[in-house]
Amino acid sequence: MNDTKSKPVLLSGIQPSGNLMIGNYIGALKNWVRLQDEYECLFVLVDMHAITVRQKPADLRSRCFDFIALYLACGIDPKKSTVFVQSHVPSHAELMWVLNCFTYMGELNRMTQFKDKSKRHEENVNAGLFTYPVLMAADILLYQADLVPVGADQKQHLELTRDIAERFNNEFGETFRVPEPYIPPVGARVMSLQDPTAKMSKSDVNPRNYIGLLDPPDVARNKIKRAVTDSGAEVAYDESRPGITNLVSIHSAISGDSYEVITDRYAGKGYAQFKEDLAEIVVEFLKPVQERYNDIRSSKSDLEQLLNDGAEHAFRRGRKTMSKVYRKIGFIQRGR
Ligand code: AMP
Ligand code: TRP
Repeated sequence: MNDTKSKPVLLSGIQPSGNLMIGNYIGALKNWVRLQDEYECLFVLVDMHAITVRQKPADLRSRCFDFIALYLACGIDPKKSTVFVQSHVPSHAELMWVLNCFTYMGELNRMTQFKDKSKRHEENVNAGLFTYPVLMAADILLYQADLVPVGADQKQHLELTRDIAERFNNEFGETFRVPEPYIPPVGARVMSLQDPTAKMSKSDVNPRNYIGLLDPPDVARNKIKRAVTDSGAEVAYDESRPGITNLVSIHSAISGDSYEVITDRYAGKGYAQFKEDLAEIVVEFLKPVQERYNDIRSSKSDLEQLLNDGAEHAFRRGRKTMSKVYRKIGFIQRGR
């Protein structure tokens, strides 16, 4: 692990729920990989966030290993970055409690993810779902993160994190670094394949709405070919045509070609050829990721070792913030 103190700190996380999919890669993981050399990076699998929705324990357990193996298969290098599981570092929950006391009900009530999720899980609108953004703020502020790369849907949570940090700093003096979001210019909001007016989601009940990073080639190809496009014929990047525009942005994010280059290339060619080519680009991208994944996932003991080291490092990194916070709010030190 790289311990260079002078680099700015980057932190990001994903919940181990559903199936990691291409939207998570384009919106988040791709940038994690790209920014690894410039920042001291911490990548956390936020299992405590995942239980705000009921999970089957055995599935959650194996999914945690799946996700970590996929982080690595996508290019996260544990020699450069710290990879760990949230529940392995108790400071996240400890700091969250303190931050809960600096967050207002009204602020949490305004969170669109809370509103969406409480509609989707009417049978289980639990307090964890409500205070979820405070735990996220704790994840970030614990490590004095400068930059948080996320998809556009997390922008509101980042703004709340900044507000909480500033509120605490105003009251007690400089304690937390106020983090900046990093939202990618292309692909910050990849849309569902069957309903391009809704966000692509890894927890979607209909797997035809997303391309899983572990989808076999033929499955991925079919999902792209069957993706909903509007009745027009031209391959275009035009917000009034969300279906084709979404596919063009997926192409752009994976191939690196600009929207203009892509739409010019398909001028007069129609959707079928474009979809076929996009399917091949996606399959070629997935292949090496899946090969690396199969290799990494097969050695559970190596993954466990890596997560142990990661948790150890993260715990040490966060301890300074915790003791500063406890001191500032007036908790007495435990005797030796
Ligand atoms: P989640 O799937 O909600 O656990 O999100 C994990 C990360 O992927 C977060 O940084 C999200 O902002 C990002 N993300 C999730 N869905 C999308 C999407 N459809 N487009 C772009 N980024 C996404
Ligand atoms: N709330 C984020 C999501 O749903 C996941 C997350 C939890 C996170 N803690 C974080 C993202 C800290 C960035 C930084 O996608």
